[in-house]
Amino acid sequence: MIHPDIESIIVSEDEIRQRIAELGAEISRDYAGERILLVAVLRGAALFMADLARQITVPVEIDFMAVSSYGSSTKSSGVVRILKDLDEQIEGRHVLVIEDILDTGLTLKYLLKNLASRKPASLEVVTLLSKEGKQRVPISCKYIGFSVPDEFVVGFGLDFAERYRNLPYIGVLRPSAYQD
Ligand code: PRP
Repeated sequence: MIHPDIESIIVSEDEIRQRIAELGAEISRDYAGERILLVAVLRGAALFMADLARQITVPVEIDFMAVSSYGSSTKSSGVVRILKDLDEQIEGRHVLVIEDILDTGLTLKYLLKNLASRKPASLEVVTLLSKEGKQRVPISCKYIGFSVPDEFVVGFGLDFAERYRNLPYIGVLRPSAYQD
């Protein structure tokens, strides 16, 4: 049943499940014989991490970071503040950063630079969604679930004003839902 605030579903629950299984298999092959530290960027990516981790067959550990942009021009400044840092040391470890959506790329650019300075053995990114044509900085993202158009999407971790994160699909929000 579709939520009344959702105009259309652009990635269905089945498509997400199938793609996460494919990504899990691909990651398990790529890291065969290794251990991975999965690092989810809170909050949205926590849901994707939970499902992806269960599709990976090599040993994984999990950790979390929380970041926020400075000021009100959140998505354009590119200046990111770490609200919660990793609990784990990452030097010499294989780190896979998990994002729910890659938009301008500014958050990841900052985060990857910061994490790279801690000298991990490897540092890669998996994102569930990537917005087509929106990246303002080049980001090397090894695993992409789906490319999506530049629309206001929610669900599967993505919110509007903290709502809709629990929808099991990715949908486009009706303008009436954010204009009131
Ligand atoms: C989203 C997403 C990324 C960032 C991507 O987080 O999870 O971290 O925006 O945007 P960018 O590519 O333009 O930098 P958000 O700030 O919405 O936080 P949330 O996961 O807590 O909802």
